[in-house]
Amino acid sequence: MITSSMAFGRDCAPAEFTTIDPIRLAGLWIPEPGSAPPPLMALATVGADGYPRVRHVLLSEFADGAVYFHTDADSAKVGELRDRPYAAVAVAWPEVGRQLLVRGAVTRATAAEERAVYARRGRYLQLLAWLNTPEQATLPVEARHAAWAEFDAAHADLEPPGTWAGFAVRPEEFVFWRGDPDGPSQRTRYRRTGTAWNVEVLPG
Ligand SMILES: Cc1cc2nc3c(=O)[nH]c(=O)nc-3n(C[C@H](O)[C@H](O)[C@H](O)COP(=O)(O)O)c2cc1C
Repeated sequence: MITSSMAFGRDCAPAEFTTIDPIRLAGLWIPEPGSAPPPLMALATVGADGYPRVRHVLLSEFADGAVYFHTDADSAKVGELRDRPYAAVAVAWPEVGRQLLVRGAVTRATAAEERAVYARRGRYLQLLAWLNTPEQATLPVEARHAAWAEFDAAHADLEPPGTWAGFAVRPEEFVFWRGDPDGPSQRTRYRRTGTAWNVEVLPG
């Protein structure tokens, strides 16, 4: 039986990792929403030219067995996901020697999920979702700051803008990487096979 403290340690035997449900393990590694600043994750999508494109986004939550992020519906990543609804994400916690990789199909979040995440965002990120526009980007910095201050003063409580969009990466593959300052690092890879998971223990 794996516990949350073992999930964070490097002394957990490989056998433990081959018996645990990876969705449960990911839930032990990813902080609960609101308990910490959201982890930063690299999100890779694939463009029409076949090249991957990667950028960092906040990992909003791990819920219903999926990794959620939120973004602007007009962004390049959303255009890429419309054509090719698959993504890979990577989150690293170097201070505790952990990396989590997920690959999977991407689906739009529900309206309720999107609203709940927006409500949990701090004021700065709520404002940013409204003001991170192509028009603002091309203004001189003084004009951007003035528009920001004016919008902030005029809107005490903010609802999500129409461009606020959430997405779920539904795992087909997980890789849990664990570093070890006294020895080799190690990975456990889980690949979905119908209703079960194929598990492999690999060098780091
Ligand atoms: C620390 C950090 C956090 C970020 N968080 C997000 C985020 O949660 N959502 C988002 O859309 N962009 C976020 N960005 C900006 C993206 O990296 C990216 O520039 C933007 O989403 C446009 O990407 P695209 O043109 O590939 O769609 C963040 C950037 C940094 C450096």
